[in-house]
Amino acid sequence: MMLAGFLFLLLVTDVESSERNCSYQDVLNHLNFTRNKELFSAIRPVKNYKQPVEVTLDVLLYAILGVREKDQQFVSYIWLDMWWQNELLSWNPEDFCGIKQFSLPTEVLWKPDITIEEMTERDEAPPSPYLIVQSNGFIKVTNDQVLVSSCRMRVHKFPFDIQSCNLSFKSVVHSVNEIQLVQYLNSSKITEWSRKLMRTQYEWLFVNMTLSNETVDLFGFIQSRIVYTAHL
Ligand SMILES: *[C@@H]1O[C@H](CO)[C@@H](O)[C@H](O)[C@H]1NC(C)=O
Ligand SMILES: *[C@@H]1O[C@H](CO)[C@@H](O)[C@H](O)[C@H]1NC(C)=O
Ligand SMILES: *[C@@H]1O[C@H](CO)[C@@H](O)[C@H](O)[C@H]1NC(C)=O
Ligand SMILES: *[C@@H]1O[C@H](CO)[C@@H](O)[C@H](O)[C@H]1NC(C)=O
Ligand SMILES: *[C@@H]1O[C@H](CO)[C@@H](O)[C@H](O)[C@H]1NC(C)=O
Ligand SMILES: *[C@@H]1O[C@H](CO)[C@@H](O)[C@H](O)[C@H]1NC(C)=O
Repeated sequence: MMLAGFLFLLLVTDVESSERNCSYQDVLNHLNFTRNKELFSAIRPVKNYKQPVEVTLDVLLYAILGVREKDQQFVSYIWLDMWWQNELLSWNPEDFCGIKQFSLPTEVLWKPDITIEEMTERDEAPPSPYLIVQSNGFIKVTNDQVLVSSCRMRVHKFPFDIQSCNLSFKSVVHSVNEIQLVQYLNSSKITEWSRKLMRTQYEWLFVNMTLSNETVDLFGFIQSRIVYTAHL
């Protein structure tokens, strides 16, 4: 008797929860994700190809690990936040038990191919394995990495000189008509936050971080670029 009642209860709650669409899988099914799996990772996620993907970027300087005048190298530890809209992914949280966001492995969705022009060595640490998908279609990735970059330094006035090292972010293959880079925080906010978070700067005094957004024209190939300049 007791057991039967217990089983009945189990069945009822089971049916209820599946009807309520409370699982991440329900959202993915609704998005036809499993049926279009390859498409989701392969294709720039816009409904009209003439629409660029606006990629918002924030870069904070966590640590200055080395400034090597002899090698003209700047070694930093940066925090990178990036988000954009995937027009093919959105759902109404109310239809799914209030699910507003969840994480997915980074390789299953399209991602902008952002590179840093000055980078001379690839970071050995693996990038974050997950990205966050929000119900309005916004995708967010966060990464921290040690960055070895080239920096043209003036050594003659050392140590009384201020060095400026650029970190230039842009897409590898996409033009400005496909990927448009946008900054979120301005120079003063980035400087303020970097100063707050900075763990180590050795003998280098962090002065500030400035940034500029540009469109660059390389033999008629026009790209969007954001340059962060660390002044030390
Ligand atoms: C659950 O989702 C399916 C497919 O989106 C839908 O047909 C069904 O009505 C939903 N059930 C509830 C209780 O919202
Ligand atoms: C999923 O596919 C079905 C059938 O092709 C379609 O009716 C539905 O609109 C699709 N759902 C989304 C969210 O695109
Ligand atoms: C660094 O970037 C700024 C802004 O784009 C530019 O004016 C400057 O020439 C760059 N410096 C070097 C060394 O490339
Ligand atoms: C570029 O920078 C200017 C000045 O800070 C700003 O007004 C503009 O919105 C920026 N454009 C993009 C695409 O981020
Ligand atoms: C930078 O952004 C902050 C907050 O968004 C704003 O209060 C401040 O006026 C901005 N500074 C400049 C120089 O634009
Ligand atoms: C940042 O530092 C450089 C080098 O000292 C200086 O030229 C520039 O005016 C500073 N920018 C801001 C926004 O403080």
